[in-house]
Amino acid sequence: MAIRNIRVMGDAVLEKECRPITEMNKKLELLIEDMLDTMYEANGVGLAAPQVGILKQLVVIDVSEEGDDPIILINPEIIEMEGSQTGQEGCLSIPGKSGVVTRPNYVKVKALDMDMNEVIYEGTELLARAFCHEIDHLHGILYASKAEGGIHDV
Ligand code: NI
Repeated sequence: MAIRNIRVMGDAVLEKECRPITEMNKKLELLIEDMLDTMYEANGVGLAAPQVGILKQLVVIDVSEEGDDPIILINPEIIEMEGSQTGQEGCLSIPGKSGVVTRPNYVKVKALDMDMNEVIYEGTELLARAFCHEIDHLHGILYASKAEGGIHDV
């Protein structure tokens, strides 16, 4: 278990496109464990690899109350979306701030799991928002650029 340093807005690594993962290995397994530890330690509901300085298409999410239901997404892409929701959003890379962002209310995501098998996830409300927010990170996009009226202190 290791907590990694979370990069904050202004760090160029957060604005870069991430590369797809082609094979699972010990180093990546360790990275996934560390990302989960880092997300839980920071009380976040999601963390993307570029937030710990790694430009790979890898995301961890856990929107459960107890923080015991992690979702790991490798090379994720949104393949369907529906509806919309407008609400407050925050990011571990933009500490102490939030902003209002409109997202789809439902998304379907295609990704690979830790065994590199294809998985499909569906999410609504907070989970849909988390999928969109974290997948944006893999393309160098921070929610601040989508926040209506900008970001403000929490
Ligand atoms: Ni974020």
